[in-house]
Amino acid sequence: MPRTRASASPLFVPRHATRAQQRAARAGYAAARQAARVAAAPVHQGDRRGPDPELRATYPPNGRPGPASARGGKLKLPAHRMTTAVAAGAYPFLAEGGLGAEGIYIGRDVHAEAAFCYDPFALYGRLEGFTNPNMLLAGIIGMGKSALAKSLATRAVAHGYRIYVPCDPKGEWTVVAQALGGHTIALGPGLPGRLNPLDAPDRPAGTDPEDWAGEVRKRRLLLLASLARTVLGRDLLPMEHTALDVALDLVVTACAEQGTTPLLGDIAAALGSTDRLDTAAGDRTRRLGRAAEDLTHALRRLVHGDLAGMFDAPSTVRFDPTAPMLTIDLCRLGGAGDDTALVLAMTCASAWMESALADPTGGRRWVIYDEAWRVMRHTALLERMQSQWKLSRGLGIANLMVIHRLSDLLTAGDAGSRGRALAEGLLSDCSTRIIYRQEPDQLSTAASLLGLTGIETQAISALTKGRGLWKVAGRSFITQHILHPHEHQLFDTDTRMQA
Ligand SMILES: Nc1ncnc2c1ncn2[C@@H]1O[C@H](COP(=O)(O)OP(=O)(O)O)[C@@H](O)[C@H]1O
Ligand SMILES: [Mg+2]
Repeated sequence: MPRTRASASPLFVPRHATRAQQRAARAGYAAARQAARVAAAPVHQGDRRGPDPELRATYPPNGRPGPASARGGKLKLPAHRMTTAVAAGAYPFLAEGGLGAEGIYIGRDVHAEAAFCYDPFALYGRLEGFTNPNMLLAGIIGMGKSALAKSLATRAVAHGYRIYVPCDPKGEWTVVAQALGGHTIALGPGLPGRLNPLDAPDRPAGTDPEDWAGEVRKRRLLLLASLARTVLGRDLLPMEHTALDVALDLVVTACAEQGTTPLLGDIAAALGSTDRLDTAAGDRTRRLGRAAEDLTHALRRLVHGDLAGMFDAPSTVRFDPTAPMLTIDLCRLGGAGDDTALVLAMTCASAWMESALADPTGGRRWVIYDEAWRVMRHTALLERMQSQWKLSRGLGIANLMVIHRLSDLLTAGDAGSRGRALAEGLLSDCSTRIIYRQEPDQLSTAASLLGLTGIETQAISALTKGRGLWKVAGRSFITQHILHPHEHQLFDTDTRMQA
């Protein structure tokens, strides 16, 4: 049987033509095909005159022409199948997609070469594992931590946030507050500023007066216990807690009759009058008055000691909830190596501020603790910070804590101690951790506390000014913070070094 061949050539090359005729027909066909291709090709991009030369594409849609296109079609690899896990290892040159354009502009994502924006409230609920708006910022001195915090604050004001800085031990936020039209309260020996930490904030609309009175009492007791614990350097005994309770109730009742606000001095006086305490508590054995002796002396420091006056008088400022920024300048305190005065002042100042922040309708707010490493060793203050951290979501508050090293968190106490547990709790309640450059001897602590990968650990040892590793709920970015020239001028802390 003759073999049949399926071929299209008879359609354009007649079978019984001579070789010369066949060759001529093939050449004619090739020329026709070339002509058709040229006719179908798009007009060259360079020839097209659009209305705006700026908007004209640089290259045609099918890519850059010529050999530089690297599309010679010569590279032919065999197909290869692999799992996505292997593919990620085999093709690691992928940059993070970024957190989206929503939020406050921070600077440049170094790997993706894209703008980096961040807003804890915008990310909440959108990013998996992003469970709270709190942030930790760690880095060695002079790398631009405060500059980043100030930029975040300044730019956040434009997004409708309000900023509170209860801890500014260097007094460098005052100029920022002034520039934004906010207020600063400077506290220190010889300064006119006074804060009464027992001020009761205005009752939020819709709360039951009795519930609110209970809340105010709880806050005042917490504050008094914190202050006493800081001065005594130990936990309070059960009898001492009772004594504080009784003394506070005595003072509050007396002040309510006179229409005044309780002062720390009143509490110290009530604790000091043994008989009054015992009678009020109905203690016939007369033990309560004696048990309160240590407490009396502890509170005395705030009333007659080195902090005299500052926290034992009616406040000289009212909390202004409409001001964009409020900072408490503590640079006159704790200069001589003893941080107790600073911690006491910060406890009072933050209590005063927090009671004003308790209004859940107060909008979104940012509370910034600059140089927080100085107060890390004080359990009482850590406790206050922790309760504030826990409330952050309910009140619409993002907390930002600035420290030097991750090991600052470990100075809060020995392994297993309450202080250490509180500090580690603060860290785990920060969904965003920003790590600026760390000293080589700090790398292993940082890596183990934050669970950094080898590459990340290597990266943080080589970061330059303004550049940080941002860990946002498990995602990593290396970000260069970009300062506006005006910000640079305003935030400059190097002037005295250069002068
Ligand atoms: N991203 C940045 N770009 C340029 N200069 C910066 C940047 N961040 C900080 N600086 C400058 O570096 C200096 C130290 O910054 P600062 O925020 O005070 O450091 P830190 O708080 O970490 O000790 C400041 O004078 C500031 O102007
Ligand atoms: Mg700083």
